[in-house]
Amino acid sequence: MGRHHGLIAFRLFLAALCVGSLTAQGAEDAQEYYEPGIVLPTGEGREHILRACTRCHTLEGVPAYSKYWGYERWLPMVENMVQHGSRLNEEEKIIVARYLGKYFGTD
Ligand code: HEC
Repeated sequence: MGRHHGLIAFRLFLAALCVGSLTAQGAEDAQEYYEPGIVLPTGEGREHILRACTRCHTLEGVPAYSKYWGYERWLPMVENMVQHGSRLNEEEKIIVARYLGKYFGTD
């Protein structure tokens, strides 16, 4: 009897694990939707942006700065996003700001 219950508990545990991984998978897929019409050119920093900039909002606001901002203006914006919770280390912030300055900016 006790053994039987243990088995059920174990099955429930496995089921919970499955649900957990499905949810994580779903969240990863959802990132694909965060690019409404915005093409990110291939370049160093692209992967960082896909990972660190699409969690809270779309990238819709990014091209608006293309004609005005270079690296020096993008860097404080990226730092602002890190304050909000974007996960980029010092080196990555620079890579992302360079990318934005080059492909969505005046550099
Ligand atoms: C943890 C959540 C979060 C992440 C991750 C994040 N942002 Fe933001 N972003 C915000 C919030 C909140 C605002 C609006 C408030 C503000 O501008 O400070 C915003 C606003 C913006 C704006 C201004 C939007 C507009 O229409 O003018 C831009 C551009 C932007 N983010 C770019 C980025 C970039 C680039 C990254 C990656 C480095 C990033 N965001 C990552 C939360 C986030």
